[in-house]
Amino acid sequence: MAALAGLSSSYPPPFLTTMINYSKIEFLISAFAIKQLPEPHFPKIAFAGRSNVGKSSLINKLVNQKKLVKVSSRPGKTQSLNFFMVNQSCYLVDLPGYGFAKVPQKLKGLWQDLITDYIEQRQSLRCVVVILDIRHPLKELDFSLISWLREIGVPALPVYTKLDKIARGQRHKHAAALDAGLSIGPEERLLFSAKTGEGKEELAARLEAYLK
Ligand code: GTP
Ligand code: MG
Repeated sequence: MAALAGLSSSYPPPFLTTMINYSKIEFLISAFAIKQLPEPHFPKIAFAGRSNVGKSSLINKLVNQKKLVKVSSRPGKTQSLNFFMVNQSCYLVDLPGYGFAKVPQKLKGLWQDLITDYIEQRQSLRCVVVILDIRHPLKELDFSLISWLREIGVPALPVYTKLDKIARGQRHKHAAALDAGLSIGPEERLLFSAKTGEGKEELAARLEAYLK
């Protein structure tokens, strides 16, 4: 998969064409507590990562909308579980970011509880997309989240984002450092940019496989 990302002229190859119609997406609910969650009938993909890493931007790019999910340069923008229904068939769930130093300890605990309770309950949760900034070394919280997902048997898809912010020649070095930290091979993660859309088709294809 990683090798495919370099084949820009014929990219995406026909087999990456997806069936999910992301243009039919609507905001459903913003949940601040587990009891507010929608009925667990439809499969779900959740998007997790540190504050400001680009979770909301990634979702907007995936569904081709500029403002479906609120994006901010100020960390801590998303503070609840935001459910978006796609095509009356599945949900995308934007999770609050973790690891934002300025959030008071008490609130930090509440957010973390909300995220972990949600994932533990995980009714029809098919995959957690864990978003990491390709520019930075692996942080402990990201490692802990991915290790915990492995332990409890929830598929995790690491996505290294903000690809546009580093020189093309530096990609491999940065991605390989994160791969080593997570003990994964390049085929187990994706590279992405919410600015250029690079990696979008591949992400859509992977998510589709999880939703089937
Ligand atoms: P919280 O909701 O606060 O946890 O943040 P988030 O992870 O949802 O991040 P958000 O999508 O709000 O983006 C944070 C900032 O990073 C914004 O200023 C975005 O424009 C910027 N950003 C996100 N993804 C990318 C990317 O791929 N490339 C570039 N250049 N900027 C990005
Ligand atoms: Mg957000």
